[in-house]
Amino acid sequence: MRARISGVGFHVPERVVTNDDLSQIMDTSDAWIVERTGIRERRFVEPGVSVTELAEHAALKAIAEAGKQVEDVDFIVFATITRDYQFPGSGSLLQQRLGLPTIGALELHNACSGFVYGIATADAFVRAGAYKCVLVVGAEVQSTGLNLSTAGRDMAVLFGDGAGAALVEPGDDGRGILSWALHSEGQHARELWAEAPTSLVMGRVTSEMIAEGRTFPQMNGRQVFKHATTRFPEVILEALERSGHSLDEVALVVPHQANRRIADAVGERLGIEPAKVFQNIDRYGNTTAASIPIALTEARQQGLIRDGDLVVIAAFGAGFAWGAAVIRW
Ligand code: ACO
Repeated sequence: MRARISGVGFHVPERVVTNDDLSQIMDTSDAWIVERTGIRERRFVEPGVSVTELAEHAALKAIAEAGKQVEDVDFIVFATITRDYQFPGSGSLLQQRLGLPTIGALELHNACSGFVYGIATADAFVRAGAYKCVLVVGAEVQSTGLNLSTAGRDMAVLFGDGAGAALVEPGDDGRGILSWALHSEGQHARELWAEAPTSLVMGRVTSEMIAEGRTFPQMNGRQVFKHATTRFPEVILEALERSGHSLDEVALVVPHQANRRIADAVGERLGIEPAKVFQNIDRYGNTTAASIPIALTEARQQGLIRDGDLVVIAAFGAGFAWGAAVIRW
């Protein structure tokens, strides 16, 4: 049996934060950000809006697009690194918000690759016959965890808030999730991370850690760039090989929206034309686990993914963890 993605949807907060808005509160500029990242604006939540609230909106749209009812969902996979609370995980909070009965729900704490890992998990559950309608969500509220001052400008300009969702159901007629490949390499964990809160210290965080900015995300941008531009092409080709298809059959590659320069470099390395690498980072920034389902939904809405098209989703990020999946839409 095969599993297919039967619907996708996304939701972003209304508040648009432009590069010029950021340059009012830190020493940066629209020119620097656009040249280095391709980002022109991103969305930030209003105070008090939770990641599960964003996820709920996206989930309802994906369920509607699939022509299903909320009560059809029989399992939730929620990918995020910006959960509402230290515990419990976001899956149960979304289950309660959607008014679902006591279905199973898990949270995937895998950063940028969370949605690809989520799709692979849902695919395995559906093909095993364990579930028939798995809701996979990627959602993040990054804005409340950024150092929005000059000291944090290297990371603060990159990220945005948002949510995307997909419904995974049993497939037929040759369409569906054909293959995937997942990897990780923890030796690079500290190249892209947020150290605290941490169970390594009493109270999870000390005033020193806060003063030293160790609760904010940190990144070695050059290392991330180097690894990302190698791993993306590698895992895309690996997943394609497993599917029995070749790159020239692919209608669209939908990469995690990390940075325009990374996506451009991946397209160049693979030798595919820029129009076949979907990018919307200019409007949303890097929304981590949410970026692929947001991009998939926009690509569908723009007619770039039609029924029957071969699509590859791929992500690389913190962990390092990365993966790709090949989907016959
Ligand atoms: N505005 C203005 N100047 C800045 C900013 C900013 N927002 N951030 C850093 N700078 C300054 C630095 O202080 C530095 O100044 P200095 O030369 O006086 O010391 C200068 O710009 C260059 O800094 P670098 O960090 O060397 O900038 P670089 O050209 O490498 O670009 C970037 C940084 C865009 C992050 C780059 O390393 C990159 O493309 N990395 C890829 C990783 C990435 O984008 N990850 C996204 C998130 S992770 C993921 O999703 C996988």
